[in-house]
Amino acid sequence: MTARIVVTGKIPSAGLQVLRKAGLDPQAWSQDTAMSRQELLQQVKGAEILVTLLTEKVDGELLDAAGPQLKAVCNVAVGYNNIDVAACKARGVTVTNTPGVLTDATADIALALILMVTRRLAEGERVIRAKTSWQWGMHYMLGTGVTNRILGVIGMGAIGIATARRAKACGMSIIYYSRSEIDTKIATELGAKKVLFDELLATSDVVSIHCPSNDSTHHLMGKAQFEKMKKTAFLINTARGPIVDEQALVDALRNQEIAGAGLDVFEFEPKVNAGLLDRDDVVLIPHLGSATTETRDAMAMLAADNAVAIANDRKPLTPVA
Ligand code: GLV
Repeated sequence: MTARIVVTGKIPSAGLQVLRKAGLDPQAWSQDTAMSRQELLQQVKGAEILVTLLTEKVDGELLDAAGPQLKAVCNVAVGYNNIDVAACKARGVTVTNTPGVLTDATADIALALILMVTRRLAEGERVIRAKTSWQWGMHYMLGTGVTNRILGVIGMGAIGIATARRAKACGMSIIYYSRSEIDTKIATELGAKKVLFDELLATSDVVSIHCPSNDSTHHLMGKAQFEKMKKTAFLINTARGPIVDEQALVDALRNQEIAGAGLDVFEFEPKVNAGLLDRDDVVLIPHLGSATTETRDAMAMLAADNAVAIANDRKPLTPVA
């Protein structure tokens, strides 16, 4: 008997092929829109392995609906704030994620947001699309250059480092705040200096968030933190929405406590705080960090590799600590 695998959202066929090649017969959701919660609770019944997307909340209720035979939840994402890891641990359920394969794609988006917001690119594009008359002018739509400015990275994991590399290539210098030490070779290559959180806030011209979303990072960026930033500084978030108190961000922008923000993720995704929508000093994109065809294939394949390993009583490749 092969393990019963339920893939709870539509994933690239490359991932399903990995499962099928391994002799597994995944029951896979094939629609683009997510399953309703009710349907999800039904579909997971009797599953031994769940392959999940970041839009699905994996909590005690879902784990209990699956049943005691559930062995693992393989998330097709590097972030796993959609999963109650403690509830999984309590039931002996392994959790895996997909680190590494989306590092470059996400760092590209962080750099894109840095350039878009500092150089007012989305605002400029809106002028043209609105057919507003415009003309090159010495003082027209001036932005802020990034060369010789300071990038402050919050969370110097793989994506933070990859973003720092890109920013360094644009002439930025790098400071970071991180729980963990980074490889000294990488720190030297980047000329990156580890600083305290408040120093990062007070010194950076661009603050870019790359830490995980959990209880300890919820609203890490709030009113007090925006007050500590330079009035000329920008905030970039490609990590997870709840790390930023979105209303406090709107207030900080309104009060001109910071100069702008580039956001790929939102506190109450897919809802976006109305206070952000009509502001020209923010760039808003719909959670596109890992959204390239090759990256999504690689994510689905890695999640599937984890599922295959678990189905065969082997250690998964990328378990969540
Ligand atoms: C995407 O947001 C991910 O966490 O993989």
